[in-house]
Amino acid sequence: TILVLDFGSQYNQLISRRIRELGVYSELKPHTLTAEQIKEINPKGIIFSGGPNSVYAEDAFTIDPEIFNLGLPILGVCYGMQLMAHMLPGGKVIAADNTAEYGETTIKVTDPETLLFADTPEEQTVLMSHGDKIEAIPDGFKVAATSEQTPFAAMEDREHNFYGVQFHPEVRQTENGMKILENFIDNAVHADRTWSMDDFIEEQLQAIRDKVGDKKVLLGLSGGVDSSVVGVLLQRAIGDQLVSIFVDHGLLRKNEANEVMEALGGKFGLNIIKVDAQDRFLDKLAGVSDPEEKRKIIGNEFIQVFDEEATKLDGIDFLAQGTLYTDVIESGTDTAQTIKSHHNVGGLPEDMQFQLIEPLNTLFKDEVRELGEKLGIPHELVWRQPFPGPGLGIRVLGDITEDKLEIVRESDAILREEVAKHGLEDEIWQYFTVLTGVRSVGVMGDIRTYDYTIAIRAITSVDGMTAEFARIPWDILNEISRRIVNEVDHINRVVYDITAKPPATVEWE
Ligand code: XMP
Repeated sequence: TILVLDFGSQYNQLISRRIRELGVYSELKPHTLTAEQIKEINPKGIIFSGGPNSVYAEDAFTIDPEIFNLGLPILGVCYGMQLMAHMLPGGKVIAADNTAEYGETTIKVTDPETLLFADTPEEQTVLMSHGDKIEAIPDGFKVAATSEQTPFAAMEDREHNFYGVQFHPEVRQTENGMKILENFIDNAVHADRTWSMDDFIEEQLQAIRDKVGDKKVLLGLSGGVDSSVVGVLLQRAIGDQLVSIFVDHGLLRKNEANEVMEALGGKFGLNIIKVDAQDRFLDKLAGVSDPEEKRKIIGNEFIQVFDEEATKLDGIDFLAQGTLYTDVIESGTDTAQTIKSHHNVGGLPEDMQFQLIEPLNTLFKDEVRELGEKLGIPHELVWRQPFPGPGLGIRVLGDITEDKLEIVRESDAILREEVAKHGLEDEIWQYFTVLTGVRSVGVMGDIRTYDYTIAIRAITSVDGMTAEFARIPWDILNEISRRIVNEVDHINRVVYDITAKPPATVEWE
């Protein structure tokens, strides 16, 4: 293991990610770990992450100084390097008035014997992001690289196996970042680069069996990637000691409920209690047109249904959740012990006390997908595009009826078919149709129509936070539009949403 100690940089999770890409298991942990605690974890090396503080600020994040005496290789990144300069004898950090560096910067490698920069060019681009500046490096260190603004862009103490870089090797803008991390792993840590997803599966299966024993586990399946992967992993570990509840709220896409049941219940043999709650949801939603109110009703009803089913079960000790690493880190704790309302299962029956099992809580989304594929979950399910919890309920604008849901389901199915047919799935991050509620005049076979308008929303994005409309070729849009108007009742017009996020959002409600 390579331990990454967290000082709060927005990039800190990426460091662990990159180390795993190099084939070494790595985890991000709070910087408050003591040297004793670290000894117990027994890592092969430590990386101090970046962070927004000044090392000399009064309440600045610091570390147990004994960590420097563990005899472990240490790499300090940005704040991490400044912390080394601040804590080790001889070093000094000061506020940089006009020498702050933000953005891509050229550095020059100055030490011919450098370990970190071995096999990289003398001049290279890195991403800098620091306000403070190292004025003196600690005793025993040599300068490895400089930039125009700082004489200490990187430093090395080969004897103690301590290294520091003022820039961020974990981001892509640092062109040799991976090589620099690889040099640290290979030549300073001497780690075996053999970690893979197969190891992870074996470790998890054993850990789950140890934890659960002969007890029972409950899982809320949503049809999404995360809960599906948790389900299949748990099934493999403990078989029928796992009981899953799948609430069909009637707001899923065409065939989706069947596909989930067939894949997970059929192929993998999960014991799934399917709750057909379509009518309940439609009743509660009848006549409600305010988007926020619709979302609330759907969320609350979901919890209600799940709780009712869970209460019927006896002898359950554990609740499994598809919490990801990003959720854990965002919640700011080492392991998330509270159940967040945005998760698949929003609440627990009050008289039920469960322990949580969160087998994905050290994985990133793309690692979960890799795990899903290794477990044999169908490709379509593993690579499913994001789908909001309130489902089609927020894609029928205004009040919801079964007829309107049917229109969205059918038009969405056509869009998905055409996107697949033209091999556009990988280019488009998310794509769906929206029933706008706008009616307009049309003509079909000489007959005047007065019917609804479907909007197509298709975006490219990295994380859903910002988005661009996808440049789907005109001819394909034309085909999609013709099919929707011809095959879906009550639609006589199709429009394409060409707004970015911001100012629009991805969903229309
Ligand atoms: P917006 O519409 O906020 O969507 O730009 C950004 C991404 O989040 C998804 N989304 C949701 N996901 N529960 C979810 O799990 C929700 O209530 C929800 N609302 C939006 C949306 O599909 C897009 O991927």
